[in-house]
Order: sequence, then C-alpha cells, then structure tokens
Amino acid sequence: MCVFVWVFVFNKRVDRIFSYNYDAHLIEKVLYDLSKNLKKRFTRYFCSMAEDLKIIEGKKEEQYQSLVPQIRALIEGESDLTANLANISAALKEQFNFFWVGFYLVKDDELVLGPFQGPVACTRIQKGRGVCGAAWAEGRTLIVPDVEAFPGHIACSSLSKSEIVVPLIQEDQVVGVLDVDSERLSAFDEVDQKYLEAIVQLIKF
Ligand code: SME
Repeated sequence: MCVFVWVFVFNKRVDRIFSYNYDAHLIEKVLYDLSKNLKKRFTRYFCSMAEDLKIIEGKKEEQYQSLVPQIRALIEGESDLTANLANISAALKEQFNFFWVGFYLVKDDELVLGPFQGPVACTRIQKGRGVCGAAWAEGRTLIVPDVEAFPGHIACSSLSKSEIVVPLIQEDQVVGVLDVDSERLSAFDEVDQKYLEAIVQLIKF
C-alpha cells in the first residue's frame, strides 16, 4: 500500500517537473516578468517615474511621511510649475482620495484656478472671499471643520463638508493657495497642516 502511494506521489511530481505545461508556464512567467520590468525601466527613463507612486495604508501621519519624499522626488527634476502642481494634486488625491485637491494662483489680483484633481470648480476668487481668499488675505493656513459655519464660504460643490487652505508664499508674498476639500466634517487637523505646508515649500516658482 505504502509503495503504491509513494509511486503515485512520485509520478505526480515527475509529471509536474517534466510536463510541457509546467515548462511553458514557467517560460511564460519569466517573459511576463521581463516585459514588465522593461516597461517599468522604459517608463522611468522617458516619463520621469510617472508610474512609481507608492500608496500606503496606515495612520494619516504615516501616509504623509511616505508621500512627502515621493513628491520631492517627483518634482525636483522638473522646472515647469504647472507640471509640478498637477503632479502634487494627483499624488495627494491618489494617497488620500480627497474629494477635491488643487491650486489657485494669484493673477491680476485674483486667485485663478490652477491644476487640480476632483470635480470642476470655481475659476476665480477675489482676495478675502471664501476660505481661499481669506487664507490669501491673512497669509496663513486656514482649517475649516464645517464649511457651512464659515462666513462667505464659496461652495464649488455642495458635497464638500470641510476644507484646509495653505498659502503658497514666495519672497513674503502669497502667490497662490493649495486647497483641499473633504466630503467628511472635521477631516483636517494640525497633521494635515504640518505636512501640506511642508509640501508647498517644496514648490519652486
Ligand atoms: N471652497 C473654496 C472655493 C474653492 S473650491 O472649494 C474648490 C472657498 O471657499 O474659497
């Protein structure tokens, strides 16, 4: 009986080792891995690591700690402001799945919509108006736990419930703002402020 079982098992192993299917599968896998690797190298070379954002789970602080160096690497070799603001918006959206994340830039004494991720938004905001205009006028980060309680809040979408706006400062002048909106109340705190302020400091104008 034992001999019979052993022969049966042994034969199965030999079948697996030498069968055409096993070899074909192995070769197919090696070729697949090779092509994936080549594609990655090609993309890294020609597209400046566009596919390489590593998204992690965990506490908010851990997520920012993983993201900030990646954003630094993503923008440090690129001098185009629009490209960098677009990639920062995309990276924040990918990691945190914020409802809306993007930039407004000061042009002719107004904030004008810049690169963003999320639903379509208001294109122009006057100084002092809404959360963005207030952050611009006051030159500091504003955290709004409930947008309906903020006098003059500009509702680009009724789904937005809380918001943080971080000014972009160059030579003591506000040149724009980073605006992040959430569908949750009280989504933002001093952790977001700390890391979003660190992120905007990476931007070269
Ligand atoms: N809620 C902002 C307007 C911009 S959108 O949220 C994208 C504000 O009050 O300034």
